[in-house]
This record gives sequence, C-alpha cells and structure tokens, in this order.
Amino acid sequence: MVSRVIPVDPFDLVIFGSTGDLAQRKILPALFRRFCSGQWPDDVQIIGAARAVYDRDAFRDIVAESLRTHAAKQCQDADALSTFLQRVDYVPLDALSDEGWDLLAEKLTVDRVRAFYFSVGPRLFGPLAESIKSHKLATKQTRIVVEKPFGHDLESARALNATLARHFSEGQIYRIDHYLGKETVQNLMAVRFGNMLFEPLWNSQYVDHIQITVAESVGIDGREEYYDRAGAMRDMMQNHLMQLLCLIAMEPPAKFDPDAVRDEKLKVIRALDPVEPHHIVRGQFEGDGPSYREVVGNPRSTTESYVALKAHISNWRWAGTPFYLRTGKRLVARSSVINVMFKDAPHSIFGADAGRHANVLSIRLQPNEGITLKVTIKEPGPGGMRLVDVPLDMSFAEALGPENQDPPDAYERLVMDVIRGNQTLFMRGDEVEAAWAWTDPIIAGWQARGDVPKPYESGSTGPGDAELLMKRDGRRWQGINP
Ligand code: BG6
Repeated sequence: MVSRVIPVDPFDLVIFGSTGDLAQRKILPALFRRFCSGQWPDDVQIIGAARAVYDRDAFRDIVAESLRTHAAKQCQDADALSTFLQRVDYVPLDALSDEGWDLLAEKLTVDRVRAFYFSVGPRLFGPLAESIKSHKLATKQTRIVVEKPFGHDLESARALNATLARHFSEGQIYRIDHYLGKETVQNLMAVRFGNMLFEPLWNSQYVDHIQITVAESVGIDGREEYYDRAGAMRDMMQNHLMQLLCLIAMEPPAKFDPDAVRDEKLKVIRALDPVEPHHIVRGQFEGDGPSYREVVGNPRSTTESYVALKAHISNWRWAGTPFYLRTGKRLVARSSVINVMFKDAPHSIFGADAGRHANVLSIRLQPNEGITLKVTIKEPGPGGMRLVDVPLDMSFAEALGPENQDPPDAYERLVMDVIRGNQTLFMRGDEVEAAWAWTDPIIAGWQARGDVPKPYESGSTGPGDAELLMKRDGRRWQGINP
C-alpha cells in the first residue's frame, strides 16, 4: 500500500519551550519525518523560542542531535537532515517580559499560516497568548496549540479557556490530546462507522460491558513533581481514557468534521453518571525497585499511580452497560486495548455441557495494533458438540504490509492538522470542561474521605481490589499482554 501525503501550503511555526523535552522528543522529530515524506514546500519556517540564549547554529546543533536520536529510523537521508535544519531558526525570548518579541516579529512571514505551539507549563499559556496579541503577531491565519495539562480542575480549566478566549477565537485554539492523533485511535472510528457489521450490535441490548485498559510498564521518572500533583486520574483518565470512551460510545456524527464529531463526544461526557465511591480503585506501585513514594521522594504521598473505575452512560444506547476503565504505571506490560464484551447467546441449543463463549471484539491500540474477534466454533474431532472460542486475528501491520509496521507518531498528524486548520482531533473548550466536571467530584471525594491508594506490586496487573471490582459483578478483566 502506498502512503499518500497531502501537501500543505508554506507556514511559519513557532515553538515556545523549544529546548524542552516534548519539543525535542516529539514535536521536532514529527516535523522532520513529515519533511522527509515530502509534505512541505521549501520555504517553511520553524522558529524555536525559549528563555535560553542560543544563536541559530547552536540551536540547530541541539535539534540535529534530537533528530538523530528520535527520528533517524524513519529518515536516514543525511541531506534531508541538513536541508531540514536550514529551515530551523531560533529566538531567545521571555514569555513574561517584552524581551525577544520584536525580533520574533521581524522573522515572521506576512500572509501565511502562523502557528504558535505552547510547549510550556500551563502557567505560561495566558502570558504567551497575551504577548502574541500585544506584540501584534496574531493574524487571521494564526493558530495556537496548547498542550496538556489543560487545567487542574474545572475552575482552572474555565479560567484558562476564558484567558485564551480573550485573545483568540475557539477556531484558532488547538488543545492537544495526543491519543486522538494515534493511528489506531482514529481506526476506532473507521471500524465503527465504516462497517455495517458492528454498528447494529453496538448497544446495551448486545454488549454486556466494555473494558478500556491503558497499561504502562514505565514509571514516572523525570516527571515526579508534576505527577505527584496530578496522579493517574488527572494525568490519564480525565483526558486519554475519556477520549477513548467517547469514541467508543458516541453516536455516529453526521460527518467527519470538527464540530459534528466533538458535539457527539460532548454528549457522551455529559451523559456520564457520577461515579460511586465503591466503583473506584486507586493504587500505588511498590516492590521490585523503588516504590512510588520513594520515586517522588514523598513518604506520605497519597497520589495514585493506578486507577480503575466503573462508569455508566445514561442514554438510550448504553443504559445498563457498564464501562470499566483502568490505567496505571509500572504494570506488567505496555498495552492499550479496548475490549467490547458481547452478551451470551440467549439460549444454547447444544446443552449445558457444550460450553458457552461470548464474543469479544478487541481493538488493540498499542503495541501490535490490530483487531481480534473471538468467535465460537466446534472443537474439531470426535467427542460430541464441544464449543471453543477462537480468535479471528488481524494485525494491521500484517494485513496492510510492512510499511505500516511503524505507524506515524500521533504528533505528525496533529501538527499537520494544525497547519491545515482541521480541529477534528483536538478538544473543544466545552469538552475539556465537561471532562473536569465529571472528574472533580471523584477527586474531591477522595480528599474528603482521606482515601489512601492500595499498594500493588510493580510488574503486576494492579491492585487486587481492581479484580474485585469486576468479580462483584460476575465479570473479569481480560489479560494485560504485551
Ligand atoms: C501522557 C501522560 O499524556 O501520556 C504520561 O502524561 C503517559 O504519563 C503518556 O506516559 C502515555 O502516552 P503513550 O503515547 O506513550 O501511550
């Protein structure tokens, strides 16, 4: 299969926080890969901006080093690297003062798409937005890209939305949730809305429950301070898992356009019931290496590195079908999977001894992206009618060819969507606020009760209580497999 690259018009992209980890590890490598695939015209400008004082060549050296580390596999052409670097410039700039802004203004091109990427801590979002406006850098074609965390709770998210709205229209604000840029997350929509097969069964009449697992084997090294303030609920559940839940549960939008898709996602979030305290399990890793509390250097920390919960969506499609969501650090494997667990057939014509197996549709997001559908067949050979379930297994890499073995990084698509002006895969302000409105009472409940997370072994599947959450309902989690 030949990949198709849709060229974009020339643009200027300014990356604030360009010497930081995200810019060096994700944003610049993503741009480089897109450059290598021939998506850009020649006169694009990428301008790094940060407080550190570098000249252009020193910054180019830093970028070259990151690209060698993070993008060499996809782009091995040495000429490409030097041509790319010629498009890279740098302006030392302070978000909190007037320093550097005039120089930046001089470098920007008139009359083309101008994107400002806020790859900085949230406290600088407001000052940056303000400075862009006050230094008259905002044009009609200007867009701003805002990284998570988008607020810490509903109140701070509202304040942030209000600050940005003073300077930019909603159509100019691109709030990133990088899960939406993952190839297989978009595939969720293709599977649901491109096939007649699944959609008629996609409701509480046929689906017993849905499991969404985002398991990580990594810990939180290097981000201790942020993480200990956030925890798994704010870091992953409120955004990434919430987005997956929306894509799985939403009604078909009339078309694949930004507001149609985001309207449907918003309806799902607003239909979520408050979560009962006994439907949530929090965990903290320990054992096998340093414990969570040792890693964050806080022996009394009650921040969760794992959370599992049961959610209910009160609408016609899903009333009565629970959604079980779990995510955690230092688990047995890196594995993100959505399992749609169908109900048993209403009656077995083969008798009780034959065995019964409900269908399971597993959508594997990472790694080894693909889809598996478990179907029931007769076990071969004599011995009467004995039923077993076998997987109809499709790995996207195997089915679509070797060039699809390494799908593009989420940032490649998202950055190009900013340039193209397509907001479908970005969160709208009201969506983010609705997600916080659901999350806040959960966290407030923990604080009010002085809740302490349950310990779990590093390298395990999480705390035992998460198994009980399912067991009480006569269900169990599917395995976490690499
Ligand atoms: C980030 C979280 O948003 O997503 C991290 O802050 C997490 O804690 C990461 O590790 C997971 O992303 P991915 O793409 O590796 O699944």
